[in-house]
Amino acid sequence: MAIEIEKRPTVGLSKVATSDTHGEDSPYFAGWKAYDENPFDEVYNPSGIIQMGLAENQVSFDLLEEYLEKHKEVAKCGSGISSFRENALFQDYHGLLSFRKAMASFMGQVRAGRATFDPDRVIITAGATAANELLTFILADPGDALLVPTPYYPGFDRDLRWRTGVNIIQVHCDSSNNFQVTPQALEEAYKEAESKNIKVRGLLITNPSNPLGSTVQRCVLEEILEFVTRKNIHLVSDEIYSGSAFCCSEFVSIAEILESRNYKDSERVHIVYSLSKDLGLPGFRVGTIYSYNDKVVTTARRMSSFTLISSQTQQLLASMLSDKKFTKNYIKTNRERLRRRYEMIIGGLRSAGIECLKGNAGLFCWMNLSPLLEKPTKECELAVWNTILHEVKLNISPGSSCHCSEPGWFRVCFANMSENTLQIALKRIHDFMETRKIIQKH
Ligand SMILES: Cc1ncc(COP(=O)(O)O)c(C=O)c1O
Repeated sequence: MAIEIEKRPTVGLSKVATSDTHGEDSPYFAGWKAYDENPFDEVYNPSGIIQMGLAENQVSFDLLEEYLEKHKEVAKCGSGISSFRENALFQDYHGLLSFRKAMASFMGQVRAGRATFDPDRVIITAGATAANELLTFILADPGDALLVPTPYYPGFDRDLRWRTGVNIIQVHCDSSNNFQVTPQALEEAYKEAESKNIKVRGLLITNPSNPLGSTVQRCVLEEILEFVTRKNIHLVSDEIYSGSAFCCSEFVSIAEILESRNYKDSERVHIVYSLSKDLGLPGFRVGTIYSYNDKVVTTARRMSSFTLISSQTQQLLASMLSDKKFTKNYIKTNRERLRRRYEMIIGGLRSAGIECLKGNAGLFCWMNLSPLLEKPTKECELAVWNTILHEVKLNISPGSSCHCSEPGWFRVCFANMSENTLQIALKRIHDFMETRKIIQKH
């Protein structure tokens, strides 16, 4: 029998526990809940909600499975008595050197060798979630702020703010220049912080961007570096989607810019990476901080004690990522498959009369439904979102949950389902747009 617990709240909790800066009261998470209550299944629940609000990459899973099938010794890692003991006892927060080497080399490979990474600067964390929070703890004090260009990944509201007590000041970007960051927008955000007496400690960019599905141009990165240097603040570049740029040459890592400048001013720059997207392993919880600042490396390594990943996982991935033939083929095939999916969804939406921002990366597209809004307001955007969720039965993410300043944009994920399910989703959107046309005619 379940233990009966008295519901009356008599014992107090900490300020962190009771604060609402966790960011979960958002349609982004409400959509996931609606999906969980009625998930689509081609056979068992064909009228259920299709999940298009989850940036998960399942398009190359077969390659990982094939590798593990061929290399049974890697898959079984930790099951022999001697490696079991090794894994069970190892607890050093530096992580396994073999894993850090493999991770550093994989990050270089994803950038086609245009940047190199030193394994001694790789800090292991439980996903990019932990990496972003950990960096925030190190770079800023409670009450300080990080500047973050909009639209941004809704999880940042939790990761950067909740437990750290740090604020986010938004850098407003808009469709007039495809949502690229400008020096003026950066200056305005900085001034806003000054006017509120808030100290800005850094700027966090996501490249390639979630939710835009596009890369940041080299000239914009140069301007960003100039800005952070002028203001003497940090720059965090979340490059979690770096291997998911459809064409490698279209993605420029901040690491390449630093390398070309002989690492001038690099001590203010930190890169976040994870295997959740490019390798499609969010369940493994594998992330890294790569910092060019010695003090940050030392502190982050100490703090990573709170968010380590298991030795077993490190060992398996050390073997897999050290196999250059495998990683080369994986990176190439995964990029090609993502591009194919992207073209499929863009083509399907276009034939339904919907345009998207031109994308070149990621697991989603940035769809413009502003023509459907009665008025250009957040409320009208959420009304459209609600109809699409409950009537069309698609969970997509409204731009307002990513703090987009222009109403009517939505993020639509395409890599977490089969091609067949994607076609069903496109048919539902097509039919929805047709009925809208009929209503408008009458
Ligand atoms: C930009 C960005 N950063 C961080 C994360 C968190 O990733 P992880 O699963 O590695 O914690 C995500 C996940 O969607 C993301 O899109």
